[in-house]
Amino acid sequence: MLASSSHSSQFPSVRMKLKHAPTSFSPRWLIWLGLVLTVGCTEDVPPTAIRVDGATPTPADMGMATDVDAAPPPVGFATSEYCGSCHAEHYRQWSGSMHAYATKDPVFVAMLEKGTADTNGRLDQFCVQCHAPVASRKGLLPVIEKNGTHVMELDLTNPLVGEGVQCVTCHSIARVNGTQNADFEFSETTYFGPTGSAAANVPHPIAKSPLFHDPAQKSLLCGSCHDVLNPNGARLEATFSEWYSNDFNAPQDPSRHKTCGDCHMPTYEGPITIDGPIKTLHSHRFIGVDQALIADFPEKEEQADLIAELLADAAALEVRYNGIDDDGNAVVVVAVENINNGHNLPSGSTADRQVWVHLKVTDETGMLIFESGALDANGDLADGVEGHSLFPGSDPELLLFGQFIYGEDGEHVLFPWEAHDYTDNLIGPGQRKWRDFLIPANRFRGNSLKVDAVLNYRTFPPFLIRRLIELGHLQPDALAPIPIIKMTRVTETFRLRP
Ligand code: HEC
Ligand code: HEC
Ligand code: HEC
Ligand code: HEC
Ligand code: HEC
Repeated sequence: MLASSSHSSQFPSVRMKLKHAPTSFSPRWLIWLGLVLTVGCTEDVPPTAIRVDGATPTPADMGMATDVDAAPPPVGFATSEYCGSCHAEHYRQWSGSMHAYATKDPVFVAMLEKGTADTNGRLDQFCVQCHAPVASRKGLLPVIEKNGTHVMELDLTNPLVGEGVQCVTCHSIARVNGTQNADFEFSETTYFGPTGSAAANVPHPIAKSPLFHDPAQKSLLCGSCHDVLNPNGARLEATFSEWYSNDFNAPQDPSRHKTCGDCHMPTYEGPITIDGPIKTLHSHRFIGVDQALIADFPEKEEQADLIAELLADAAALEVRYNGIDDDGNAVVVVAVENINNGHNLPSGSTADRQVWVHLKVTDETGMLIFESGALDANGDLADGVEGHSLFPGSDPELLLFGQFIYGEDGEHVLFPWEAHDYTDNLIGPGQRKWRDFLIPANRFRGNSLKVDAVLNYRTFPPFLIRRLIELGHLQPDALAPIPIIKMTRVTETFRLRP
């Protein structure tokens, strides 16, 4: 982690404890560490050496059908709709996933526009290398100068652009060279899947790849995009690295090992193609925390329900009362534990994500004595940073999990390309973090206190959305309001004095 002491406003410290020690000193980890040191690499991600089983077959080698009505599009160019003409259920699920939203997301489009202009085009392919990899590599997304401003024109009606992370994005990945910044190679002669079976090779060439079937390598496919190092060297997303160095990554122990797909692509039984055999399939909804906020996007309700379900099981919340301390304060302890995440909570775009406790303490008469984590009139949290909320310093004990990013001068910044440094407060897998809230006991009437704690999640803070609207990059009505998801809630009553 980068140094943090020089920043004026950062996350107030919380106390923490690891329930299970992470496997950071397992022999395997030491081997990686050795490799990293030997090659003199400064990154904190392991180098990967992936080989796909066997040589790349040609369509002819594979007995590909030649008598189909229309010739199939060349490998890598097929639209998801084309794949969906046979894999209807995969297509339906993927269409309602964030992978299909990756370039349609108005927040992404707004940021890309601002980032391209602000950097005079130097951002170039950086964002689209992950959000629209096929179009980016095929050279469809050049930066051009228009009226003195650098722009990248995203033609969302072109499926290679508008479909974001498509079927062919993942299923054409032949090799992962490194687990960050889309460091993979596409094949132009075959697709890849978990079996490469003869039946699958009739409609399209498709080879068996360990990136799709080997539990020790499957997560690398995801890791190629789910770790982001920005051009200034600030690690903005670390989902893969977090997963890699914790207990869920244990390929030598299958009872413990959980890949990204084990949690994000749960199995179900269904027909693999419209008229195909029933098989054990893998969900292509890729449920996480994020939902589509544009009017025209399929399967939004299902997505929202499944997100709420996932988040309901992702953290444990506990409240305790530790009596009155020597200074006459009632000591209320609130603890949050990461229980089912294969990585930190939150993870991914942590500079945008907010996980926080809304705490209310009332006395016997029902009078509100203490509150933390309330929203101001704009819907923002008083996270201590000037410009984020109406009363920045009004909630010094806010229990908030997320990331702050800083520019070259150490000041808070809002956008990923501006970040040179960061501080964060995230909960590691199996980790528990807590805060003591000290409330003067003489404020209470009667002899009881009721503690009501809600753990909330939201994907974007309103101040960020407002800023993009003010700057003219986002239309005010482009997005539905950012939902706040209640992950879990605890209400308990205690005796103030024994
Ligand atoms: C003409 C129909 C058809 C189209 C179009 C089609 N597929 Fe398939 N696909 C099949 C059939 C049939 C199978 C084998 C089903 C079985 O196992 O019985 C298959 C199997 C697969 C598998 C599993 C392979 C494995 O290794 O087990 C993947 C992955 C796949 N297809 C991806 C795609 C992608 C990506 C596209 C679009 C580029 C696509 N398919 C388009 C018919 C089609
Ligand atoms: C043990 C189950 C589990 C494993 C393994 C797992 N995840 Fe998750 N993931 C979750 C849960 C639960 C959430 C929702 C809570 C959260 O945001 O952390 C989540 C959230 C996410 C998010 C959204 C994070 C955010 O806060 O914005 C992404 C992206 C993600 N996972 C990707 C991955 C990738 C990539 C891997 C493998 C490197 C992986 N996950 C492994 C359970 C898992
Ligand atoms: C983010 C990467 C990703 C995208 C995008 C993606 N897939 Fe897959 N797909 C996978 C992985 C990984 C597996 C293998 C899962 C396993 O076996 O553990 C898979 C498996 C499959 C299978 C084999 C059957 C099954 O469900 O296990 C088919 C068929 C398939 N995908 C079709 C598609 C189609 C069609 C699309 C687009 C509509 C698509 N995929 C988009 C990653 C992806
Ligand atoms: C080619 C790059 C790429 C690959 C490979 C990839 N992803 Fe993603 N993934 C993305 C991008 C970009 C987004 C965010 C799209 C958006 O919301 O704008 C995303 C979003 C997600 C989300 C939703 C996160 C949220 O906040 O809800 C999950 C879950 C996820 N991916 C899981 C996976 C898994 C599992 C794999 C491997 C099977 C995988 N991804 C492979 C690029 C990729
Ligand atoms: C290395 C791959 C990669 C690069 C490069 C990348 N992203 Fe992403 N982006 C992702 C992934 C993966 C996610 C999903 C993480 C999550 O859900 O927490 C994501 C999520 C996002 C989101 C949140 C989407 C939502 O609706 O919640 C925005 C906005 C975004 N990226 C913008 C950008 C911009 C702007 C850039 C360029 C400055 C960029 N990204 C560069 C992989 C990447």
